[in-house]
Amino acid sequence: MLRLRSQTPSEWIDIVRRDLPTFLRDHAHNERKVSQSALALAKDNPERVELTDAMVDLAAEELDHFRQVYVRLRERGLTLGFDRPDPYMTAMRKLMRKHDTDLYLLDRLVLFSIIEARGFERFHMMAEALPEDDPLKAFYRDVARDEALHRVLFLKLAKLYFPEADVDARLDELLEEEAKVLAILPLRASVH
Ligand SMILES: [Fe+2]
Ligand SMILES: [Fe+2]
Repeated sequence: MLRLRSQTPSEWIDIVRRDLPTFLRDHAHNERKVSQSALALAKDNPERVELTDAMVDLAAEELDHFRQVYVRLRERGLTLGFDRPDPYMTAMRKLMRKHDTDLYLLDRLVLFSIIEARGFERFHMMAEALPEDDPLKAFYRDVARDEALHRVLFLKLAKLYFPEADVDARLDELLEEEAKVLAILPLRASVH
């Protein structure tokens, strides 16, 4: 079972709601990048059919999330804006063991499941915090539901290709690391 080791403080929601354009732009770029990451996983593992099948679908779904956030930016008269550095993702990527092909795949799958879990937590917070009459409420509820499914998908794929005990042990380590990464980052109007 994947349970995050830290909880996002409620101040995060206040920061996001004070600067919604910055948050929406960051969210859009996040969706764009996870779509690209799914394509990269397919490209790097073309003989693993279950993984490729899942990543082709996921890339399309995340690209659709990107499109949906982009539409909401444009509805507000906003541009996409330049992508900003994401210190959370930079730190998370450093945790991947790239020197070994198998370990690298295991780490990518486990880390992406944690990243999806964090996305679920934050989009769910967003959906809960918004008033009933805000059209973004239903949108964030839907996105949160999708990210919750992606969290399970990555973990399922990890357990398809690696022994369950190895996956659980690495998950335990990386959940600890993720909580440490998040603890030292300032709260911003961004997904992470
Ligand atoms: Fe997404
Ligand atoms: Fe996702």
